[in-house]
Amino acid sequence: MSPGTSTDSVAVRVPGKVNLELLVGAQREDGYHEVSTVYQAVSVYDRVTVRPAERWSVSVTGPYADRVPTGDSNLALVAAKTLGRRRPRHGRSSPVHVEIDKTIPVAGGMAGGSANAAAALVACRELWQLDHVDNELLDQIASGLGSDVTFLLHGGTAIGSGRGEQVTPVLGRGELHWVLWVGEGLELSTPEVYAECDRLREAAGETPPAPEPSSELLTALRRMDAADVAAALHNDLQAAAVSLRPELAGVIEAGTELGALGAMVSGSGPTVAFLAGSQTEAIDLSVGLAANGPVGDIVRAIGPVPGAQVVQHLRTP
Ligand code: C5P
Repeated sequence: MSPGTSTDSVAVRVPGKVNLELLVGAQREDGYHEVSTVYQAVSVYDRVTVRPAERWSVSVTGPYADRVPTGDSNLALVAAKTLGRRRPRHGRSSPVHVEIDKTIPVAGGMAGGSANAAAALVACRELWQLDHVDNELLDQIASGLGSDVTFLLHGGTAIGSGRGEQVTPVLGRGELHWVLWVGEGLELSTPEVYAECDRLREAAGETPPAPEPSSELLTALRRMDAADVAAALHNDLQAAAVSLRPELAGVIEAGTELGALGAMVSGSGPTVAFLAGSQTEAIDLSVGLAANGPVGDIVRAIGPVPGAQVVQHLRTP
């Protein structure tokens, strides 16, 4: 466990996300693809706790713990170190131990790693009381860590443009009921899914248009009308995810037959997000999938929910 040197600790709760729309444009010179996406933060949470320690370190608990890297590549640790450089007079010599209690699926298209990075930023800012790091600066630091990190600082429902890091909130009332299917052993690497998307397009002789959010989805989101939102769900990476993991086609079909209003691969997959018409329908769908659907974890969630938030601050008097 933590080699903490004091009892100061800050815990942050952070959600995962689904993409209600993910339109992928051309690859840019920096290797990223121009995207237009509509993110929604959903009630599947990780808890990230930071406390001062003798050296930078990370530990992970929870059902998906064994799939998370605990070395220097861990994005939460990278985030903490990056923010540590903004600490006046301390430079890099302010190590923390980062403890991640993980419920968001790993390599699942729900931005679990980015969520942990966003949480680590919020937690360390609080722990170190970095009053000069305002939300705008935190957004800027987040965007350097990954395309989805900025959104997970904010949560809610938002349009992501650029490579996904330019976030604009979408106004809307109400909530959506999701059932998530998480398959074991199907983890997909985001760069591989983008590359497969390019390959499929090239093979078909397609050139993608400049991506822009669809007005149908934005109109449906104003009232969070589940049927209208379901009709407008779209993910350009779905064909690529299904091409790499053909079993996902059967998962989408099973949920649709069991009454989902809409179904799609979340982000780069392989998590499949089903939209239900109500809480009762979501319960029925999750029970049906668990009993008769393809083998996988079934998680019920609502969206939108807020982004990374401090939930506990323990301080020695
Ligand atoms: O930004 P992030 O580290 O989450 O992206 C992971 C990888 O996904 C990138 O290295 C890139 O290969 C791909 N990606 C992309 N275009 C985006 C976002 C991600 O090509 N807009």
